[in-house]
Amino acid sequence: MPIAIGSDHAGFNLKEEIKTFLSKQGIDFEDLGTFEPNPVDYPDIAFKVAEKVANGEFEKAILVCGTGIGMCMAADKVEGIRCAACFDETTARFARTHNDANILALGARILGVELAKNIVKVFISTPFSGEERHIRRIKKIEEYEKNREAKYK
Ligand code: RB5
Repeated sequence: MPIAIGSDHAGFNLKEEIKTFLSKQGIDFEDLGTFEPNPVDYPDIAFKVAEKVANGEFEKAILVCGTGIGMCMAADKVEGIRCAACFDETTARFARTHNDANILALGARILGVELAKNIVKVFISTPFSGEERHIRRIKKIEEYEKNREAKYK
């Protein structure tokens, strides 16, 4: 299944670099915008990409903005999304093994291109551990997301 990729204007150049990297690695992807470096609002791209992951059109996605934070905040509002802003290979690895993150958010104003590519590589190639304690914790997030009811009053 191809990987979806999206960015705002701040993430546009890094998105293009990552696309070249994915092509060289033989990894199929679909670019969902933005398609030019003019200013756009990151939530518009984050919701577009995240909804396509949530509905099963894509299994994983990459979102790029200035810091990775806005994209991450917006994407995580979509039910079924576990988006992780990762800043090195370690956070990327644990986002997959412990949290089964389905979207990676990257900060183009924070990361160098080579580091960003390494993070992408780790995120894509690392499976979820499948360990019971991690499944249990993810289920708690999913239950909360479904009910949206204050649990700790
Ligand atoms: C755009 O200037 C910037 O705010 C955005 O790319 C992102 O960093 C937000 O979190």
